Amino acid sequence: MSQIVLKMEGINKSFGDAKVLKDVPFELKHGEVHALVGGNGAGKSTLMKIMTGVYTLDTGKIYVDGEETVITKPLDAKNKGIGMIFQELSLIQTLTVSENIFLGNEIINHGMRDTKAMNQKSKEVLDKLGIDVDPDTRVDTLSVGMSQMVEIAKAVSKDAKILVFDEPTAALSDSETARLFEMIGQLKKEGVSMVYISHRMNEILKIADRITILKDGEHVITEQISNMTLDKIVSYMMGGSQGGGSKFEWVEREYDQNAPDVLTVEHLKINNKISDISFSLKPGEILGFAGLMGSGRTEIMETLFGLRPKLGGKVFLEGKEIHVKDTKGAVKAGFALIPEDRRKEGLVLIHTIKHNATLSILDKLTKKKVFLDEKKANAIVNGNMKQLNVKAEGINQEIGLLSGGNQQKVVIAKWINSSPKVMMLDEPTAGVDIGAKGEIIKIIRSYADQGHGVLFVSSELTEMMAICDRIITIFDGRITGEMSRRDIKSEEELQNAIQRSE
Ligand SMILES: Nc1ncnc2c1ncn2[C@@H]1O[C@H](COP(=O)(O)OP(=O)(O)OP(=O)(O)O)[C@@H](O)[C@H]1O
Ligand SMILES: [Mg+2]
Repeated sequence: MSQIVLKMEGINKSFGDAKVLKDVPFELKHGEVHALVGGNGAGKSTLMKIMTGVYTLDTGKIYVDGEETVITKPLDAKNKGIGMIFQELSLIQTLTVSENIFLGNEIINHGMRDTKAMNQKSKEVLDKLGIDVDPDTRVDTLSVGMSQMVEIAKAVSKDAKILVFDEPTAALSDSETARLFEMIGQLKKEGVSMVYISHRMNEILKIADRITILKDGEHVITEQISNMTLDKIVSYMMGGSQGGGSKFEWVEREYDQNAPDVLTVEHLKINNKISDISFSLKPGEILGFAGLMGSGRTEIMETLFGLRPKLGGKVFLEGKEIHVKDTKGAVKAGFALIPEDRRKEGLVLIHTIKHNATLSILDKLTKKKVFLDEKKANAIVNGNMKQLNVKAEGINQEIGLLSGGNQQKVVIAKWINSSPKVMMLDEPTAGVDIGAKGEIIKIIRSYADQGHGVLFVSSELTEMMAICDRIITIFDGRITGEMSRRDIKSEEELQNAIQRSE
């Protein structure tokens, strides 16, 4: 079956002076999974937001089932059976799972919202997708991964025949990702057509039927996935200039193994499960925590950063015991945390790039405690933008308007600027394109080279293998092993170590 369910022709879109999409075509066949790929800021989310009525096109045409269709608001798209799972989670934090699923679609009985019926129906959808969450739970108590699954359930519950997934797996664990892929396979069988945006090329090669690649707002190629390879995709994305960006080579780093610890953690207790964590970190060392989602990696970092109370144990920074009560105290002591979910702790979206990138060093930039040293701030932030290759109109642009990957780069800049003694990174490259990933890894390594300590968590083992000097494995809240990077021969070996419970 190769019936075309949706076609976009000559799509143009500008924001102010910035031309973001230039004559872009796009086509979706019945029951296909169509990957949409390109570097950060290439225009993927924008193209899909035009298709779903979040943005309106400047010029161009959209056909649904062969019929020219005007889509100027989300309702137009919804009426045509088009749904989208957004890159930025769109759930309302203070509502329950089921209230979110039925938002704008409430079941009304005798003029009242029928919570019971909505919970019941939500449960059906969640069960069908194998998502284990009580529909009555408030969304702000869910993990990032679980919120993402609920977001997907919400879109699927509307019986869409076209579904757009914008980086659905950036916050998912391996098992959640596997479940999502099963779900996509199921929807495909039901004849749903899907657009799948991701920076994880292995996922694209695994589940897509066709691929469209964008570069700087222009269409590069649309092709059967069977005619593509990883190297080909990367070279189309990067314009042939950075084909090597997809490979991260580990290079052994030098640091003084006998130097006194920059960080020592003794018998840290966070809750009943994570109750005895001990490790140490040398200046200049990059220490990775490897484990499954939910193993406790994030919680350890959050506790050191004062986001969770410490129930027991001791923490020493440069040999001195510290008692961190909140994040302010943690920053003051010399910690930084680049969080898994930038929306929760990383950025103020309505503020400028400059404001966000200097948030962590305001006191250092403030003259006589009143005025911001604009010149110095500008120099620092312009330097960040260049170093991290942030795509934006300028440092005074509102950060919420940047593409997802570019926002993440600003989070990294913000914390590098604060020059912490111990930098903690939790999935720092989620949503970052393959070229910039290599850049970020280089930046983290050079930060460590200056004698700072780095704690690193990533669910992408390739990345752990490329960056860490030493890796501690965690299973279900317990440290189960420790390996020097030098001794790890393959990714499989690390994978196996992570899955062992003792
Ligand atoms: N509302 C907006 N106002 C101004 N500029 C915008 C707006 N939305 C997007 N842009 C700009 O349009 C360009 C394309 O952004 P888009 O979000 O489509 O990229 P993307 O391909 O999805 O990237 P990523 O992989 O990082 O998510 C970027 O330069 C971005 O800053
Ligand atoms: Mg995007």
